[in-house]
Amino acid sequence: MSTTRARSIRGRKWWALWGLMAVSAVGFAVGSVPPYLTGDAADAPLPLNPEVALHYLSLMVHAVPGALALALGPLQFVNRLRVRRPKLHRVVGRVYMISVVIASTAAAINAAVTISGFAVQVAFFILVLAWLYTLAMAYRSIRRGEVQLHRIWMIRNYALTFAAVTLRVYLLLGLQLSPSTGFEAIYTTAVWASILGNVLVAEYFIVQRMLAPLVRRQRRDAPLVSTLT
Ligand code: HEM
Repeated sequence: MSTTRARSIRGRKWWALWGLMAVSAVGFAVGSVPPYLTGDAADAPLPLNPEVALHYLSLMVHAVPGALALALGPLQFVNRLRVRRPKLHRVVGRVYMISVVIASTAAAINAAVTISGFAVQVAFFILVLAWLYTLAMAYRSIRRGEVQLHRIWMIRNYALTFAAVTLRVYLLLGLQLSPSTGFEAIYTTAVWASILGNVLVAEYFIVQRMLAPLVRRQRRDAPLVSTLT
């Protein structure tokens, strides 16, 4: 197969995956927010902690910016847009960052007061830390002009943002495929599986699409370098 044809197939595959990610991200963002816009705690689809008066409010402060980050993220991975409209990339990037900081702060409160159990709390605390750490690293690398590193950290960061979607997919699948298991066990499994699964997919993508071509290029150039030195 010619290199051009292989490239065009890879390009089409990338757009199909990107489209699936963007549609499910926007779909979930739009679908999950309305119960948190009414201001009525009775609309919360999640069982609230009766001892925490502000539980609904902290879910609202989490879900709204979380949904914004989720919906904006896919735009940032479009190369053409980034090259042609760098200002737009910067503005959307700032809105994304502020949204993640607000959503993760509220997520830490939600994790502390949730009635979903200890294993879920631990998973969400790890997710909050990883969400903020990857964001900080992405910001630091772009401030230093390290564009490739910035991309790698943003892929990791958005993979964690996207855990909001995969969690719900696994939850629905679990409830359909094994209804006798019980909601709590399926929910706990879905939370952990969404984090681990997304991290693995992100690392696979980073190694295969970004690091492997770099290593191959370096190996190709190495004999040239050794003869020059
Ligand atoms: C990636 C980092 C995230 C963390 C650590 C996190 C954490 C949490 C926690 C702890 C809860 C309460 C769950 C419970 O009590 O069992 C929650 C609920 C929720 N989160 Fe997140 N979340 C994250 C990302 C997102 C994103 C990107 C969205 C985008 C919409 C989102 C939307 C929601 C919604 C809507 C709820 C309420 C539950 C529901 O109505 O289904 N979260 N989240």
